[in-house]
Amino acid sequence: MFDEGQCFAPIVEDAHGNVSVQLGSEHPGFADAEYRSRRDRLASLASSWEPGGPCPIADYTAEEDEVWRVVCEALETRHRAYASGVFLEGKEMLHLPVDRVPQLDEVSDLLAPLTGFRYQPAAGLVPLREFYGALADKHFWGTQYIRHHSVPLYTPEPDVLHEVVGHGNTLAHPRYAALYESAGRAARRVESEEALEFVSKVFWFTLEFGVHHEGGELRAYGAGILSSPGEIEEFRGMEIRPLDLIDMGTHDYDITKYQDVLYAGDSFAHVEDVVGAFWDSCDDDSIGKLKETA
Ligand code: TRP
Ligand code: FE
Repeated sequence: MFDEGQCFAPIVEDAHGNVSVQLGSEHPGFADAEYRSRRDRLASLASSWEPGGPCPIADYTAEEDEVWRVVCEALETRHRAYASGVFLEGKEMLHLPVDRVPQLDEVSDLLAPLTGFRYQPAAGLVPLREFYGALADKHFWGTQYIRHHSVPLYTPEPDVLHEVVGHGNTLAHPRYAALYESAGRAARRVESEEALEFVSKVFWFTLEFGVHHEGGELRAYGAGILSSPGEIEEFRGMEIRPLDLIDMGTHDYDITKYQDVLYAGDSFAHVEDVVGAFWDSCDDDSIGKLKETA
C-alpha cells in the first residue's frame, strides 16, 4: 500500500507525461542510475493506466525475478514461524508464484474467486482519501516496481513485494477483506482531514503493522511486517502495547524504519471486534470525541 502519508519517493510528471521518481539519498537505489531509470519507466507505465482498463504489463527482468525469489524464500519459513494463522490460510488459498514477479492483473484474477479484490497500478503517491476510499469498492492501489537488489530484506517504501506478498495474501482471505472494506467505507464517510488521518493511523497500526496473540505467542498479521524478512525477525522485541483505538489513532510513526511501537490484539477476532466495529461506525463527531480524551 502506498498512501501519501507513507510517501517516501514523490514522483514528478512533466508536460509530456514523463515521470521521474525523487529517491532520497538514504534509498538503497539512490546511486544506481539503472535502477532509477527503471523506476521512472514503471511509474510512467502506471500513470498511463485508464480506470477500468487492464494494468500495464511490467516486463520484469531476470534480476528482478531473482529479488522476488530471494525474498519469497526468506519469508517462507518466517511466515510459518511468525505470521497469524489467518494470514497463513490466505497465503494457502492465493498460492502466489514464488520464482518470478507476477503481474498485478494476474494476482487480481487469483483474488477474483476468493474475495473479488482487484489491484490498480499506482505510480507512487496516491492521495489518502483516494487510496483508502478505493478499498470500499474492493480496489487496491499497488506499486509495480521492486525493491533494490542490494537490500532485499527491508525497503523504506512499499514495493510490489509488499503489495502482493504482504497485502495480496491478506486480500485473499474474507476475514481480512471485510476489514479492508470497512476501512474504505470509513475513509469515505469521514469529512475532515483530521478524522481521515485518525482512520489511516488505525489502519497503519493494524492492517499494516498489527500483531496479535495466538497460542501463547505473538504473531504478525500486518502486511508491512509480513513483506519484510528483516522486520518480521524483530517485531517481537518491540514495545508491544494493548490494542487501543485512541492510542493508535494519535501515535506518530516513522515510515522508513522498523516500527518500534506495535499494538497487539488478544486474537484476530479481537481485532475484528474492536477495529472493524470502529471503522463501521466512526464519523467526524465520534473521532473528535476520541481525540479529546487522548
Ligand atoms: N518495509 C517494507 C518491506 O520491506 C516496505 C515498506 C516500507 C512499507 N514502508 C512501508 C510497508 C510503509 C508498509 C508501509 O517490505
Ligand atoms: Fe501497505
